[in-house]
Amino acid sequence: MKFPITVEDPLSHSCQALMVGCFEDDNTDPLFMVLDQAVGGCLGLLFKEGDFSGKTNKTRIMHTLGKIPAERLVLVGLGKKRELTDERIRQGAGSAIQALRGTGRKSCTTLLHLAGRGGNGFLQAAVEGAALGGYRFSQYKTRNDDNGAIEEARVLYPPGYAMEMAEKVVSETQKVCEAVLFARDLVTQPGNVATPAFLAEKAVEISAKYGIVCQVLERDEMERNAMEALLAVARGSRQPPRFIILEYMAAGAKVRPTVLVGKGITFDSGGISLKPREGMEKMKDDMAGGAAVMGTLMAAAALKLPVNLVGLIPAVENLPGGGAYKPGDVFKSMSGQTIEIVNTDAEGRMILCDALHYAKRYRPAALIDLATLTGACVVALGSFATGLMGNDEGLKRAVIKAAETSGERVWELPLWEEYGELMKSDIADLKNSGGAEAGAISAGWFLKNFVGKTRWVHLDIAGTAWMDKDRPYMPKGATGVGVRLLVEYLRGVANGR
Ligand code: BES
Ligand code: MN
Ligand code: ZN
Repeated sequence: MKFPITVEDPLSHSCQALMVGCFEDDNTDPLFMVLDQAVGGCLGLLFKEGDFSGKTNKTRIMHTLGKIPAERLVLVGLGKKRELTDERIRQGAGSAIQALRGTGRKSCTTLLHLAGRGGNGFLQAAVEGAALGGYRFSQYKTRNDDNGAIEEARVLYPPGYAMEMAEKVVSETQKVCEAVLFARDLVTQPGNVATPAFLAEKAVEISAKYGIVCQVLERDEMERNAMEALLAVARGSRQPPRFIILEYMAAGAKVRPTVLVGKGITFDSGGISLKPREGMEKMKDDMAGGAAVMGTLMAAAALKLPVNLVGLIPAVENLPGGGAYKPGDVFKSMSGQTIEIVNTDAEGRMILCDALHYAKRYRPAALIDLATLTGACVVALGSFATGLMGNDEGLKRAVIKAAETSGERVWELPLWEEYGELMKSDIADLKNSGGAEAGAISAGWFLKNFVGKTRWVHLDIAGTAWMDKDRPYMPKGATGVGVRLLVEYLRGVANGR
C-alpha cells in the first residue's frame, strides 16, 4: 500500500473516501466540527440519533452528496477522547481499511493521524493500521484476481500544520510493515511449499536485496557441529533440514550483537507422538518464529539501524517417517547435555536448544528467541499476548517496554528454580517434556539450560502468530508477530537505551 502525503484543506480535497476519527464522548474536535458543518450537520445528527456511537473500531461509510469534494466519509470510532492511544489509532485505521476493502474503491485519504493531540506517533500508528489491516494472501486464488485491496491511503495535512518528519515516519513505517507482511506471507505459505529449503532460499533472496550476509548450513555441516538434537527431529522427514544464519553488522566490530533465534518447524505433525487430526493443518505456522526473525533482519537492514544483529533459524519438518526419532530415544545436544525424548511433539525445544548453544559463539549482548512453542501458552494467555520468560531483568524490561510501544503485547511467566524439577530425566540430563503442568514454563526452563550466562529472553508466540478471527489490523491468519516488537527493541538498542 502507498501512503503519499498531501497538504490541502480537507474541505477542498477530492478523494473517494475520507477517513475521519470520531470520539464517543466528544464532538468538539475542530476538524469534526468543520466537516459536520460542510455536510449540513449530518455527522452530528448521526451521533445524536444514535446511528453512530464512536465506540472503538465501529465504522460507518456515509455519502457526502457532493457537498464536499470527498465523495464519502469513513467515520472511525476511537472511543473516549482521553483514552486515545497509538494502539487505538492503529486499530481504528485497520478497521477503516477493512470496512473499505471490497467496496470497489482502490484509494482513500486518511485524517486519523490528526485525531486528538495528533503527532508522529499517531501518524506511524495510522500507517501501520492501514498497511497491516489491508493485507490478504491471494497467491493461490485462481478464480478471482481482484482481492479488493486498497492500494493507496493518502495522508492529508491541512495547510500550516506542523508536520516535520512526516515523510520520514511514513517511509520508515512502510519498510517495517513490508517486513511484517513478508513474515505473514511466509507463515501463510502451505507446508508443501514452505519447506526448510524454501525458507533458506527466501533468506538468501532477502539477503541479496537488503545487504545482509547469509549462510545456510546443510545436514553434513550440522553433523560436523554435532547438532544432534536438531538432527533428531529432522530424521522423520524426507525434507532435508537447513540452519539459516543471517548477519547484519552495522555497529562496528567492537559491539557485541543482538542474536535472534526463530523456531522454523515448517510443518509439525507431532512426529511419532502424532497430533490429533483436527486443526493439524494450522501447524504449517510452526515456523512463525523463524519468519519473524527474517522479517526483523529485513526491517533493520531496510531502516539501516546502527546495530549488530544476527538471526539464526533452524528449519526442520517434524514428520513420523521410518527414520523418525522415538519416545525413549536419547540424544546428545550440541552443548553436550543429553536429552531423553518422552514426546516427539516437543520438537521445538530440540531444534532451539542447538541453535541457542550455537548462538553463544557470537558472544551476544542479548539473545532473544521466538517460537510457537507450546499449546500451554495459548491456554494461559490466549491470542492476546505473547508469553515472555528470561534470565535478565534489564533485558526483560526492555522487551516489555518495546511491547507496550509497538502494541505487540507480552506477558511474563516465572522461571522459578522449582519448575526445573519437571524436566529431570531418569536416564539423561533432561527430558524433552515435563507433562501437562506449567507447559509453557517447563519449555522455557528446558531452553534456559542452553543459554548459560548470556542475557536471554524467550518469547512463546504460539497464541499470537495466528488469528482464528479477524482483528482490526490483523486479518485472520498469520500475524507476522514479533517483527514490530523486535524493531522497536532494536531502535532502543541503537539509541543506547
Ligand atoms: N508447535 C507446537 C505448539 C503449538 C500448539 C503451537 C498449538 C500453536 C498452537 C509444539 O511443537 C508442540 O507440539 N508442543 C507440545 C509440547 C508438549 C508435547 C510438551 C504442546 O504444546 O502440546
Ligand atoms: Mn510439536
Ligand atoms: Zn511445534
